This record gives sequence, C-alpha cells and structure tokens, in this order.
Amino acid sequence: MESQTFAPITSSLKGSLQIPGDKSISHRAVMIGSLAKGKTRIANFLNGEDCLRTIEIFKQFGVDIMIDNTDVVINSSGYNNFIEPNQPLYFGNSGTTARLMLGILAGLPFHTVVYGDKHLTERPMDRVVLPLRKMSAQIDGRKEGLFLPLAIRGKKLNSIDFKIPVKSAQVKSALIFASLFTNNASNLTEKTLTRDHTENMLNAFGAEVKTNDLDINIQPNPDLVSKDIRVPGDISSAAFLIVAGALVPDSNITLLNVGLNASRTGLLDVLDAMGADISISNITTENDEKSGDITVKYKELNSTVIEGELIPKLIDEIPILALLATQASGKTIIKDAEELRIKETDRIKAVFETLKTLGANVTETKDGLIIEGKSVLNGGEIKSYGDHRMAMMGIIASLITTSDVTLDSVSSIKISYPTFIDDLNSLYEV
Ligand code: S3P
Repeated sequence: MESQTFAPITSSLKGSLQIPGDKSISHRAVMIGSLAKGKTRIANFLNGEDCLRTIEIFKQFGVDIMIDNTDVVINSSGYNNFIEPNQPLYFGNSGTTARLMLGILAGLPFHTVVYGDKHLTERPMDRVVLPLRKMSAQIDGRKEGLFLPLAIRGKKLNSIDFKIPVKSAQVKSALIFASLFTNNASNLTEKTLTRDHTENMLNAFGAEVKTNDLDINIQPNPDLVSKDIRVPGDISSAAFLIVAGALVPDSNITLLNVGLNASRTGLLDVLDAMGADISISNITTENDEKSGDITVKYKELNSTVIEGELIPKLIDEIPILALLATQASGKTIIKDAEELRIKETDRIKAVFETLKTLGANVTETKDGLIIEGKSVLNGGEIKSYGDHRMAMMGIIASLITTSDVTLDSVSSIKISYPTFIDDLNSLYEV
C-alpha cells in the first residue's frame, strides 16, 4: 500500500466534465445483456474493477464480451445456452456482483463455486441466501452458507411471495433475477423504495416486471432480447465533485450527463434542504433512466436531518455528505443508516474516525452520525479502509483542511471511479 499526500486547494473549482458510467447500471447491463440473446452494445460502461469482475464471470459462461475502453459489446446465445464454468467464480470486492449473481446462479442449471476478496468474505450473504432457499435454491458454504465462499447447485426454482425485510436493491434484484427461472409469477414487496435499475432494464430487454409503489410482480422465463444501452454518469461518483463544488469558496462546476433516477437523487434533496446552489439542465430519459447536467456553485450551508425513506436514495453518499455537514452551520443528524455498517467497510465507524482525526465535532450513533458545524478541519494521516468511497471522501476533505492530508492508500478508488484524481485536478482554476 502506497500512501499519498494531498495539499489544501489554493484556488476555486471551475469548469465542466463527463462523469464515468453508473456502477449499478453497468453491472446490470452486463448481466441482462448476457442473459439476452443477440448483440448488446453498452456505451459509457464503467470500466472500474467491480464491473470488470461481472464481465469476467459471464465470459466463464461462454458469453463473448469485448471491451474497448468504455464501450462493451456482448454477443450471447442467451441464458439457455450458458456453459457450466470449470473454475470458481471470483467476485473480488464487489457486493453488487455477489448478491445479484447469487440470484442468477441459483436458477441456472449448473454447479458453481463463488468467492471474494477479504472484505467481501466478511459481508453477509444470508440476506440473499435465505430468501433464495425459500425458492428451493440449493446454496451451501461457510457458516452454513451465509458467507462466501459458497457453492450453488442451480436448478428450476419455485416462485415466491415475499416481503423483503432489508432495505436493499441488491437483495431485491437477486430475487427478481431468481424469479425469472421459475414456473409461476412471483410477487415481492419492498419496505422502502430502493434503486430500481434492475426493473427498468429487464423491462427494456423484454421481461415483464410490473411495479406498483412497493409491490413488484415478475413473470418467469422471458425471451430476453438484446438492446443497446447508454449508461448515464454515476451520481454516486458525481457526488464527490458536487460536494467539492459546494465546499470550496467561489467554485462553479457542471457535471455532465449524470443519472437522475428518482431512487438515487437523495443527495440533491439534502443539498437543497441545506440551502445549496444547485441547478439541473439538459434532462433526457432513456429506458426509464433519467439523466441531466448538474451545476453547483459554492454557497454557505445550513445543517439538516437525513433519515427514513431518504436513506436508500443516498446510501452510498453518506460519507461525503458527512464531510459536507462539518461545513454547514448547526447540527446535522444522520439516522436510520445502520446498513452503512455492512458496506465495503463499517462506514459509520470509518467516517467517525476520519472526521475526528481531521478535527470535526462528530458523534457516532448506532445507526448514523451527529455532526456539529461549522468546524475548521486540520490535516493529518487518515485511512481509506480499503473502501473507494472513504478514499475519495478523504481527498475531497483535503481541499479545505488547514494543512496536508496523507491517505494510506488510494488504490481502492479504481473500484468505482478510476479517473477520479485526474478529474478533480482538471477542475482546479488556473
Ligand atoms: C447497489 C445497492 C446498494 C448500494 C451499492 C449498489 C446496487 O447496496 O450501496 O453500492 O447496485 O444494487 P444495498 O442493496 O446493499 O443497499
């Protein structure tokens, strides 16, 4: 691990840039494009480490996938013609690959063994394995099959009527995928609305996934037909630059072609509530996925409360929002976010430790954080916890600290935003 030092910014941030493709949508485009018969072209694919893992898996099923930078071309003869892999499947650090693939593998007629890196190996899979077993899935492995590595004996599954107990798009998506490989329709009910990219994309490829508020009805055995996909920029990546623009005095930046799916835009709602200067233009919609350009200008901010149904809409943005809260006047409360404890790292603990090191007034709670602003942040030595979003949060923090910030490692950034440091530097006013 190589540490890197970041100096405070001496200018403002100005200009515009394209944000790399959405991670969640890139994963789904590879999965659904491979399950479908025919040629699927994906434009603006996120060639970060996690999404490349998903590609490698479908190659092991015999699907022909070519990558040229951010363009991907999939030639598939459809899920009925996948071949049984002769090696274990590696999920790396990718929770989305792991959870969604379990739903797919449970219903494909062959045996697979799956494993991940040391972080993923400690993340719970029971949230997917237990409901899949209710559908008659045969999954076994470590700790009675609740942690990776797992072995899956895929087969035709039973349909399910199920109220999903956790607020998780990964769990919902795994169950939607598994419901494609049954004899009858399945019905799922969410507790709170979570990102709905799986539903949108399956419908675009010819499946029948009907949603009504929190209810989802899935018809089995669809003839999935290939389709070209343009992936919008990832709002969860844009979030770091949006917050940078809101934090650094005199900044004015525009992030182009960012996904604005309503199940993902909690960050914008919070910025609005804090009094930020944000505007959106050039809105378009493709395959039910909205996108547009986001302009942010520096402005003094107030504290807010982030809780309840908002949490799934900004779950990955909480670390960077916590940093923003240190610069807002008053007490910001983040609660109902216990899911953060089982992300790439325990993000409640990691954010608390990082902000404390930098001199913020922060308290850790069981399901969130309380941050009292505004505080002057000092520099210091902080950790990435092997977590891409913690590393990027640390780098954005360094823009406004009184002295240098040294980060133990930046290598995890390539998981979701490989060009992050260059993109940030390109916004420095010269
Ligand atoms: C994701 C869902 C969320 C999110 C993750 C990506 C997805 O996880 O944190 O980065 O693509 O479905 P959970 O479903 O565990 O909340």
